[in-house]
Amino acid sequence: MNHSILQTVGNTPLVKLQKLSPNPLVDIYVKLEFFNPSGSIKDRIVRFIIDDAEKNGLLKPGGTIVENTSGNTGAAAAMIGAIKGYKVILTMPDKVSIEKQNALKAFGAEIVVTPTSAAPDSPDHYVNTAIRIANETPNSFRINQYDNPLNPLAHYHSTGPEIWRQTEGKVTHFVASGSTGGTISGISKYLKEQNPEVFSFMPDPFGSIYYQYFKTGEISHEGSCSYQVEGVGEDHINKAMDFKMVNDMIQFNDDNAFTVARRLAREEGIIGGGTGGANVWAAMELAKTLTKPATIVTIIPDNGAKYLSKFYNDEWMKANGYKIAP
Ligand SMILES: Cc1ncc(COP(=O)(O)O)c(C=O)c1O
Repeated sequence: MNHSILQTVGNTPLVKLQKLSPNPLVDIYVKLEFFNPSGSIKDRIVRFIIDDAEKNGLLKPGGTIVENTSGNTGAAAAMIGAIKGYKVILTMPDKVSIEKQNALKAFGAEIVVTPTSAAPDSPDHYVNTAIRIANETPNSFRINQYDNPLNPLAHYHSTGPEIWRQTEGKVTHFVASGSTGGTISGISKYLKEQNPEVFSFMPDPFGSIYYQYFKTGEISHEGSCSYQVEGVGEDHINKAMDFKMVNDMIQFNDDNAFTVARRLAREEGIIGGGTGGANVWAAMELAKTLTKPATIVTIIPDNGAKYLSKFYNDEWMKANGYKIAP
């Protein structure tokens, strides 16, 4: 046996919620993506995209991986760069906490911090900074997760088939919120190819533009993205998100997401991030509407340990105006 940490990406557990389904006819299963080695679902897409870049000569030994990210994709890139021997440069706005910056540095990544106040068209904006660094650095490769078709394809080839296999083809509904949209688009495509009746349901935070775009085809320029849930919803439309794969959407607020994330920890022993709470909240709302037996699958995209000082902390909840269940 000669496995590296990379062989532990994917094949995550799928578990049935024991208490939270509100409808006895409906089973809700959650895919525990925090079992991936850097702690999130993003290990899948970064491994897939880097493997492809190597195969196609876009990234050669001694090269540099560049991405604009403060979150889970950055951790995945930093982890994969460490094991494969690439330099990793991650750009992020200065609002990102020191803990998050340090988590990426722990894998040896270089962090370039840009002013949060830089407008999207400014050369100092963190996305433009990443593009400039990638252009200036020889043998560099930018992951470009928002517009890279390999992002949904990674889920089409891994997460989708795993869900189909783990439910023995019984999945009837799939629920996932989105940022790049790679998760919902790629998994839904695979599941619908196996069974066109699979219903794909996408929760979106109030303040994101996706819901209105799905319902009306219009892009609201008021998508403030001022919600506190980290990692989903968007202020722009990007290529990884394929709305044709989505049957319906529902809007959620921070309270929905945080309350259910806390219930998952306390009642199911599953400690995930806020987007896992949002996904399970939406699965529960969907379950209430169903009148026939159904198998809903949803995703817990990342690890709750990152949010212990936020919504898992009673003082933070109270200070931010949330009610705490007794
Ligand atoms: C915590 C968390 N949940 C969910 C998502 C959404 O995944 P996707 O980008 O595939 O839509 C992300 C992506 O950034 C994330 O960081």
